[in-house]
This record gives sequence, structure tokens and C-alpha cells, in this order.
Amino acid sequence: MLGKINDPKVSTVTAEQLLYGPNPGSDRLREEIAKLLNRHFNPKVLLSKENICVGNGCGPLLNLCGEVLFDHGDAVLVPGPYYGGFEADIKYGSRVYTIPVPHCEGDCLKVDEAALEKALKNANKPVKGIIIANPNNPFGRCYSAEQLLLFCNFAKSHGLIVICDEIYGLSTWKDITEQHIEEGKTIEDYHCHCSSCQSYKDAPRIESGMDGKQSKFTSIFSLDLPDPENTHGLWGFSKDFCLNGLRIGVTISYSKTVMAAMQKICFLTCIPTNIDNILVNILSDQKWTDHFIINNNRKLLKNYTHLTNSLNAHHIPYVQGDSGFFIYIDLHQAGLNEFDLWMKLLEGGIYISPSQAFFSEDKESERNWFRICFAVEQDELDLSLDRIYKVIDTLKQKKIEI
Ligand SMILES: Cc1ncc(COP(=O)(O)O)c(C=O)c1O
Repeated sequence: MLGKINDPKVSTVTAEQLLYGPNPGSDRLREEIAKLLNRHFNPKVLLSKENICVGNGCGPLLNLCGEVLFDHGDAVLVPGPYYGGFEADIKYGSRVYTIPVPHCEGDCLKVDEAALEKALKNANKPVKGIIIANPNNPFGRCYSAEQLLLFCNFAKSHGLIVICDEIYGLSTWKDITEQHIEEGKTIEDYHCHCSSCQSYKDAPRIESGMDGKQSKFTSIFSLDLPDPENTHGLWGFSKDFCLNGLRIGVTISYSKTVMAAMQKICFLTCIPTNIDNILVNILSDQKWTDHFIINNNRKLLKNYTHLTNSLNAHHIPYVQGDSGFFIYIDLHQAGLNEFDLWMKLLEGGIYISPSQAFFSEDKESERNWFRICFAVEQDELDLSLDRIYKVIDTLKQKKIEI
């Protein structure tokens, strides 16, 4: 990506790019984004530039959705544990409150109607929407099409708005790598084969208590939506294009009313004209873009196998992943409460987010889980894992001594 961006044909600034650009993104950029999403997300109704509003990241755009779609003091249901940023993104500015909805036992991404009904009934604020992250953060996997439809049908029957954050939608590394296996290779060739992985390769995986069933990524826009006017999406360049510092996100909607409102107030979130131009130059090179996506997903798969081989060998249960940058690991074996364990990990020189950062339920089975981000260089990952194992081993040793 760095090589591409530093190519003078991609990033040279012209006089025009020193001027104000259109607030929702240039026509060319919105057209290129629509083309990209049409190629990869398989929308039931093809997207066009009219369905796209560009802004400075999905976080700020969720705030914008909060302003446009809800009133201050409203609430939204969010299947939990959920990406903690949702709370800040929709509450700090637009004053919309998140209400976690617990998943079914044994499956982190299964949420039944009873749980949604209960959350709705017990809410102490008017509930107006549902927010979903698919592929999911922190679980690193995807909701099934049936589950997405359950959310959408539930929303329709209660007059709720659905916002589906698909920011990891082009980082569905298991699927994308499997679909692009080069001639003469098998999927195993894309796994990590470093010397430690060779030595770990026979270690079995310990099942986690919330594994459930894995599903392929389904973009919400590829479904036969029960209420398309009230179903909106987010996507962005931070994750799938490794460009989080450039701050670019996208709101996607088929609703003309919502798009008109977004376009009126998006002067608060618009991106710089030269960044708009760089993105157009990248995306219009379709061959390069699609190759980049495949290559990036191969790297993610390789790191995932590197990480899970090590976790298997060290007997740490985790939720099996297939998308995104994260893996959710179970550290109950350390024998400390989550906060104290988190402190010990920090003292041991390691920051991994505890379940409470994702608003997990306050019960034994949901706490003591931690999220590892594996979209880093392998030597950094190895150093971090060594530190985690050292902290856990020391705690276990102390328990034996007591
Ligand atoms: C699910 C999800 N949505 C949104 C964001 C924020 O995205 P952006 O960098 O586009 O603001 C993140 C970042 O971690 C995320 O995981």
C-alpha cells in the first residue's frame, strides 16, 4: 500500500486539490467505491454514487448516523460483547445510548428473538435501532444470513433502524484465500510454516465455550431486506486497505431521505480533496486493488495460523476465527479475576483488551476473555505471546505454591 500511495501517479497534488471538494466525497470517488462494493459485496440492488456518503472514518460516521437517524436520549440494541468504540461513537456526540443484547449460550454470534425482546422490554430509554458489526469485532467471524435476517425482521416488526458496520467486509481472509488458491497449491500452503509452527503443528485446538457455528460473510445488502429504507451500512478504508490514519469511512444507504440529510450535514466529516484523489487513483486501478485485497487476506490467514498454532501448543482456548483482525481467547486458567489479570498483563508488558472493553455480561462465563489483534508483524506477535505465556505461567505457578 505504501508503494502504491507513494507512486507519483497516485499522489501528486494538483492545484485543484488545494481547493474545497464536495462534502460527501467526489462523484468519482463515490462511483469507485460503489463499483468496489458491487464487485465484492454482491448487493441485491446495485449500489451507485447516490447511495454513498464518504467521511472521516466509520467512527465519526456512526456519530453522524446518530445525529441523522435518532434523537438525543434514544437507545440502540447492540449484540454483545461488542466493539467498545460503538459506545463512544454514538453516545459522546449524538447522545444515543447502547444496550447490549446477550448471545445464546455456546455460540458467540447467535442472538435469539427472546433476548432482543427482553432487551427492548427492559430498556429505560426509547429503543430506536440495532447496530451490528459484521464481520464481528471482537470475535473475528461473521453472522449467518439467517441471523442477519432475524435482526432485520425483528427491527421491522418493532419499527427499528438497522445499522450494519461492515468495516472488515474485505478482510474475510478464510473465504477470500480459499477462493483464490493458485494453481498447484492447497489452502495449507497459505498457512504459516515457520519453524515454531512446524513444531506446534500437531497440538490440538481446545474448543472454547462459545464457538458455535461458523458462517461465510454475507453483506447485509446482499439480502432480501425486509425494510431497505431503514437499513444502513458502514464500510471504510481503515481495516481492509490498512489506511486507518487517513481517516476514511463510508455510509451506505438506499434511503433518499437519509442520504439527503447526511449530505447536508457531512461538511462536519468531509475528507481532504487530495486524499479523495489518492483513493480514486487507487480504486480505479481495479486489477491492483483486487490483487491487494487477496494478498492482504493471505497475510491475515498466515498470521492467524501462526497465532493459533501457538495458542494450541500452549493450551489456550479461543473462538475460531475466519475474518477481521482479532481472536478472542479464554484466560480463565490464570485463576485471577479479569481486572487483576489485565493489570498483571500490563505489568508484563502486554496490552490485550479484556472482555469488559466490549461490554461483556458480568458473569463468570463471559469474563476473563481477552482480544488479541493479530494484524501485526510476526516478531511483534511472538514477543507479545511470550509475554502472555510468562504472565499466565507465573500466576499458575503461584497458585500451585499456595
Ligand atoms: C467494528 C469497527 N467499526 C468501526 C471502527 C472505527 O473505524 P474508523 O477507523 O473508520 O473510524 C473500528 C475500529 O477498530 C471497528 O473495529
